[in-house]
Amino acid sequence: MTADDRVWWQDGAIYHIYLRSFADGNDDGLGDIPGLIAHLDHLNGSPESLGVDAIWLSPCYPSPDKDFGYDVADYRSVDPRYGTMADVRRLLDEAHRRGIRVLLDLVFNHSSDQHPWFLESRASRQNPRRDWYIWREAKPGRRPPNNWQSVFGGRAWEWDEATQQFYYHMFLKEQPDLNWRNPAVRRELMDTVRFWLDLGVDGFRLDVFSAWFKHADLPDNPPRLGLRGFDRQHHVYDVNQPEMFEALAELRAILDSYPERAAVGEPFGDGPALAARYCGQQRLHMVFNFAFTHCPWNPARFQRAIQEWDAAVPPDGWPCYVLSNHDVPRHASRYGGRHPDAVARVAAALLLTQRGTPFIYYGEEIGMQNLPLRRSQIMDPPGRRYWPIYKGRDPERGPMQWDASPNAGFSRTRPWLPVHPDYRARNVDAQRRDPNSLFSYYRALLRLRRESPALRRGRFQALIQDPRQAMAYLRAAPDETALVALNFTPSTQHIRLDIVPEPSRWELRLSSLASPQAAICGSEIRLGPHEAAVFFAA
Ligand code: NOJ
Repeated sequence: MTADDRVWWQDGAIYHIYLRSFADGNDDGLGDIPGLIAHLDHLNGSPESLGVDAIWLSPCYPSPDKDFGYDVADYRSVDPRYGTMADVRRLLDEAHRRGIRVLLDLVFNHSSDQHPWFLESRASRQNPRRDWYIWREAKPGRRPPNNWQSVFGGRAWEWDEATQQFYYHMFLKEQPDLNWRNPAVRRELMDTVRFWLDLGVDGFRLDVFSAWFKHADLPDNPPRLGLRGFDRQHHVYDVNQPEMFEALAELRAILDSYPERAAVGEPFGDGPALAARYCGQQRLHMVFNFAFTHCPWNPARFQRAIQEWDAAVPPDGWPCYVLSNHDVPRHASRYGGRHPDAVARVAAALLLTQRGTPFIYYGEEIGMQNLPLRRSQIMDPPGRRYWPIYKGRDPERGPMQWDASPNAGFSRTRPWLPVHPDYRARNVDAQRRDPNSLFSYYRALLRLRRESPALRRGRFQALIQDPRQAMAYLRAAPDETALVALNFTPSTQHIRLDIVPEPSRWELRLSSLASPQAAICGSEIRLGPHEAAVFFAA
């Protein structure tokens, strides 16, 4: 493969920006688009950049912020707190100039209850937009139409006193679900896709897309064992309905009518097999599989997740991998233990040497940790509701730690969430200047991946059948083979390989240790404590 054959979403790395926490350009305590533009050099286009190929921006549309932007009040404009449409155009120009593609987040399962469509819909039963949402009669005794539960707690039906019907909301009651079975709704949303593509946006991340359609008859979901109400049901009728495929084909045809556009979907419901059904031709380019976010720090679990995902994704689809995002605790905190930075390096090597597009969550390149928060500081609705069993998602949404100045260089005023107390030592500025920092290691890994056809596209083959302390695998392309070995433990390991790869001469190209110890001798690999090593066949 030559440099010209590179496909950005397949061969590149995508950086996930939680916009309100990335960089504050107007000192109101919230991250925004001008702030992001001012920091694009961190991502690509300068010799000191991380070296990513695209960014995915969390929702930037007008929103009452009941779910921090995932409750959209207008799909075709920008919330003034984040900037203007002129700022979006400038972002596209500045990003493209640096070789960065831009993906927006499309939240098409539900809107805000303040969206003008819903205001009209709830105005009266006769309103032309009534059927844009899912309204139903109560059962006798004003009982809800079925047993469906909301992801964020409580039942998924809200009674509307004025019009004497229930409406359905899979998330908060302030996030009513759109009725995808209404052709006018579908047309409007597909036109919204065209609107952003015409502006020059390179693609989309689709929020809970597999919930767009619900079973037309809204039957009860069967019960199962679970902790929260939502988990106490098999989600047979509220998600993953067959009509999805036809809608994805329509969306894909739109994307394909523009050059080099792509979409990645957030599926609902666990399991790689289910997720994999949604990617491929006439479907999505990629679909998230959240297996890594659930894996304990155990090489056997990661290896199984990779093998299952590799086997599940069809030949015309493409895998992607993610360790952290705005909905799960940061992996530096999940796995860190007593050696957070050493472990974060092994995790980085794991993520960036897979056959599949890596998604990097902002701040993971400097090892950002979950925010320690008191109950009174929690903003996230499910966190408020379930504290202390579940503390919500604020901890993983902390302000980006740019430098050691007050507020971590994120803002000149108090940020919407506190900055992590470790910011004076852990920040971009300090790590950029240190050749042995985690940031420098991410850069080196990304550079290696960019230059190596084997790391980008090569076949995955595990070399240890039941890994206990370390993982070792090949990434084999026609003209190049890489061997990756990852020590998950704090002690030196001598690991015997079950499969001894050919050829037998290997050259160490990159180690996570300042003084590398990795070596391959016949069927044995030596690795230093928490060492991640990438070799190439000599
Ligand atoms: C998934 C998003 O990632 C999450 O943050 C949001 O709360 C729900 N979808 C609802 O939009």
